[in-house]
Amino acid sequence: MTQKIDVYSSALSLLEEDLRGKTVVVIDVLRASSTIITALQNGAKEIIPVEDMSAAGRIAQNLDASRYLLCGEKDGEKIDGYHLGNSPFEYDEDVIKGKTLIFNTTNGTKAIVKSQHAKKVIIGSFLNMDTVVNELKEAQGEIILACAGWKSRLSLEDSLCAGLIIRKLTDGKLPEDSRDGAKLAFVLSEKYENDIVTVVSGSNHAMRLKSLGFEEDVLYCSKLNVTNVLPVLKEGTLINENG
Ligand code: MLT
Repeated sequence: MTQKIDVYSSALSLLEEDLRGKTVVVIDVLRASSTIITALQNGAKEIIPVEDMSAAGRIAQNLDASRYLLCGEKDGEKIDGYHLGNSPFEYDEDVIKGKTLIFNTTNGTKAIVKSQHAKKVIIGSFLNMDTVVNELKEAQGEIILACAGWKSRLSLEDSLCAGLIIRKLTDGKLPEDSRDGAKLAFVLSEKYENDIVTVVSGSNHAMRLKSLGFEEDVLYCSKLNVTNVLPVLKEGTLINENG
């Protein structure tokens, strides 16, 4: 592997100038990335990620009400007046097939919007890991694994996912000139490669989600390679490039 690779630990740490010209994978295992991947798998037409409620409202105003669903969460809970929250189990085919989803979450969609001027933006999680890795093998230039984290803080589940992507990309041998963020994620993945469910379930955000009744979401989002969906950002909209 010849590409340089770095890992950012939260949406707030992402700077537009750091990402320009690079391939960015936005990772929000719990749960925005996992829900986006599931929604595209189940037939959503497209997903428009937004940074806040007012951006969501502005976009909705210009769309026919029968075409879109307002989706997302604040602090893990469905936003009042929205059609759907951020649990992947809400995104069944009969609810979302053919719809445009306007998607607004606490950290994940903010990380996507902040990455929008990168050369290419991909959404990754455990669910589509090998598909993401295969795509990155073809990427030219530097790769940034942009973990969404939680409100400026690192999230264990996102760091482990980033580390496993690096391990697979480098055949288990991290280049010596790798950045510190990549080194840290790589070491984490060496230790916990076979313990994804344990690490994800024990993370701070998993605890938060369990206290809100989303225990099943945590288990689902820990599954490895269940789909080849590859969400990519095209002019501000996520579509499945393998669709
Ligand atoms: C986020 O964007 O912070 C998450 O996806 C929150 C959640 O679990 O709903």
